[in-house]
Amino acid sequence: MEIKTTADIDIKLASTSKINEVDFEKLSFGNIFTDHMLVCDYENGVWKKPSIEPYAPFTIDPSAKVFHYGQAIFEGMKAFKDENDAVWLFRPDQNYERFNKSAVRMAMPEVPEEVFLGGLKQLLDIEKEWVKKGKGNSLYIRPFMIATGKGVVAAPAVYYRFMIILSPAKSYYSGEVKVLIAEHFSRAANGGIGAAKAAGNYSAQFYPTKLANDKGYQQIIWTDDATHTKLEEAGTMNVFFRINNTLYTAPTSERILDGITRKSIIDLAKRENVNVEVRPVLVDELVAATENGTLQEIFGAGTAAVINPIVGFEYKETYYELPKLDNPLALELKEKLNNIQYKIDEDTFGWTVKI
Ligand code: COI
Repeated sequence: MEIKTTADIDIKLASTSKINEVDFEKLSFGNIFTDHMLVCDYENGVWKKPSIEPYAPFTIDPSAKVFHYGQAIFEGMKAFKDENDAVWLFRPDQNYERFNKSAVRMAMPEVPEEVFLGGLKQLLDIEKEWVKKGKGNSLYIRPFMIATGKGVVAAPAVYYRFMIILSPAKSYYSGEVKVLIAEHFSRAANGGIGAAKAAGNYSAQFYPTKLANDKGYQQIIWTDDATHTKLEEAGTMNVFFRINNTLYTAPTSERILDGITRKSIIDLAKRENVNVEVRPVLVDELVAATENGTLQEIFGAGTAAVINPIVGFEYKETYYELPKLDNPLALELKEKLNNIQYKIDEDTFGWTVKI
């Protein structure tokens, strides 16, 4: 695909850049932002002219619905730089599509392609120095929309703000990832907003995840809310299980995010002749596979996390450790995915888009 720029955009450049103050070798995820941001307001049924302006706080009415009813959605994307200094996006059409699906589910207006993708292209053109070369380096892109309309009536707003901010990133998790399998709390329910990238889906996980952190686990693998027997997703990542040389992941549903890294991994694994099964995976199956020695790997997959091996899990107060493999499939797939993203290998899927 080709991204068309938007001619109709106001650009106000920052007078100085913060880039020389940043230690790109020591980045903790999502704490540093580039010099500019994209802003586009929606008023009374119409998207206004977008602008690119210096990154800065802005004021918003205390009664805005985003504060009271959490009417907010976001996306997570990444830009990569190749050896020739060209900047590439990975499957940006998928993020754009998913963003508007989330908007519909949250009764928010859909964002036009020229604002989301065209605006992003122009923002990245200005900020390309912030995309560093070399595997492991990327510029994390956070498009989001909030309801800015005033009033505490519990109904959708008529005013919204769409923004894009950018943050140089290395890895999301530092160190080993151990997970707790959910027995009581739930991330999502059928008919709810689990498939949307709604802000509330993430904040609702903070409390149970904090309890898990206190026990030494970085994440929770959520189970279905009705029976807590099916393994679903990890909140910041979709999850894959390799049992007896087959790679399993749960089908997407009203409760599970349609992860772009998830679907890319499925396609990559199939291309590498890995047997892949997309079907519900039971907690009991996982425990049995651990006990009979057929569980080989568990890993998470997401834009921020990329592919993250999971070294062990706790379920019903028992900790199960995974085998330490010499050549885990997780790392092989990560390498293949990265090689496409950084334009080292040929992108036979047509996933990468040049800025
Ligand atoms: C991403 O992977 O981009 C996400 O949106 C997950 C987020 C919680 C960091």
